[in-house]
Amino acid sequence: MAGEYWQREPSGLARERMVALDLPGISLELATASGVFGAQRVDHGTMVLLRRAPIPAACSGVVDVGTGYGPIAVAMGLRQPSAGVWAVDVNRRALELTRRNAASAALANVVAVEPEQVPAALRFDRLYSNPPVKIGREELHSLLGGWLGRLATDGDAYLVVKQSMGADGLGRWLTEAGYPTVRSASKQGYRLLHVTAPPRRRPQDALTADDLAVVNRATGQRWSVLGRLSGGRSDSVQLLGSGPARMVLKIKRGAWWEGQLARFAELVAALRTAGYPTPPVLGFGPLGEDRFYLATEHTAGSQPAALDMELARDVLQAIGLHAAVRPSPIRDWSAMITMFLNGGIADHRFPPGLAGLAQQAWDLVPHPVPALPTGDFVHGDLTTRNLLTRSGRLSAVIDAEGFGSGTRTIDLVSMLATTRPEQRAVSDLLIEQAIAASDESVFHACLAHQVLKTLLSAADHPQRSAAVEERARNLLTFARK
Ligand SMILES: C[S@@+](CC[C@H](N)C(=O)[O-])C[C@H]1O[C@@H](n2cnc3c(N)ncnc32)[C@H](O)[C@@H]1O
Repeated sequence: MAGEYWQREPSGLARERMVALDLPGISLELATASGVFGAQRVDHGTMVLLRRAPIPAACSGVVDVGTGYGPIAVAMGLRQPSAGVWAVDVNRRALELTRRNAASAALANVVAVEPEQVPAALRFDRLYSNPPVKIGREELHSLLGGWLGRLATDGDAYLVVKQSMGADGLGRWLTEAGYPTVRSASKQGYRLLHVTAPPRRRPQDALTADDLAVVNRATGQRWSVLGRLSGGRSDSVQLLGSGPARMVLKIKRGAWWEGQLARFAELVAALRTAGYPTPPVLGFGPLGEDRFYLATEHTAGSQPAALDMELARDVLQAIGLHAAVRPSPIRDWSAMITMFLNGGIADHRFPPGLAGLAQQAWDLVPHPVPALPTGDFVHGDLTTRNLLTRSGRLSAVIDAEGFGSGTRTIDLVSMLATTRPEQRAVSDLLIEQAIAASDESVFHACLAHQVLKTLLSAADHPQRSAAVEERARNLLTFARK
């Protein structure tokens, strides 16, 4: 039987028993079974972690790596109801027990799933683990490295490991791997290791318990934070859960968003009526101090790595549906582009070495640039980053809240910028559609704007200069001679 507890389907009948979990404020009976780690009693190491590690912060996303029958996930879920806990394991029998144990404790904030069922874009504030050291050193390093790599900025982890099973060596390896690790407690031959994530981007605009209370009241549901979603440009996007329901919550700063979010909710309703694949808005409103929230339903799916022909056709079909809605003229992307090309560009300096490409873009348009047509819905940031796919087909277009009015050519050129040089058939199709949506001169104005915008991004990120230059050169090949 040794070694069986990390099998996907443990062999042998599940002989069940109840074990007691007693902690200050918690007295539970948890179901466990043969074929699952800790079938006789709650493990001593687990008890060290539960007694010594801090509880999750309010409104934080937590993961328990190697949850077993769920003693850590259930205890932390009980101690912090506004935090959502992903209870992850490869052992299906263990996951089933965790689900039952969470249900017996009336917890709606524990999600017991296999590792690959956790959305790939999710980042966590806290990781707990009594890790499976017996799987082998390399496998353990790869397991921990993978999950620690998914900690959010300022996130941390608590791991409990037996000293005789290499706790100190593991701590040294983690520190060398870029995760500063200290011993935060030592008890009964166990070490509790505290691991911090390396600093990355600036801290995100955190959701507070007061914010969550506002959202709960507005939606009439009790939500827990399941983690932060990365991938978009906005850096305060969280995934919330309430039982099986999932919601994406964004925080926006600036008084301007108040009106824009109300317009967005109206627009989404109209787009969805027309069959456009975008998730419904579940709520929006003020959070105080010029902060606003936008809550949309979570759509399962993954970001496509590239735009192939099948996906390009799906996107074109979606863009075709733009014609069904008339957005408010308050934000006009066509006017913004014309203003940029006719004057705003003078405020910018191109990095040396890229000025020649900027001149080529500049030469694509007459001066002054005539007004571009307007009146269509423009997403404003239509790139593969804002597409979700399932089995290669488009499942949703997301992150359209910066939308405005303008010409559909703008979104088509933005999609064109995400194609790779070797995908000439895809780019030819997008160019043909971009011109058909307006005309060749409008296409060239949008293309010039896209190239200049791309080149300017190198000023903020000089380390990306070579990639930016390549993207701009590729875009310039799309100009009609
Ligand atoms: C030491 S046990 C801890 C179980 C539970 N957290 C506890 O405290 O009783 C480690 C758990 O990690 C799980 N595990 C092994 N390999 C895994 C992997 N690759 N991904 C997730 N869990 C894994 C095992 O199935 C086992 O349930």
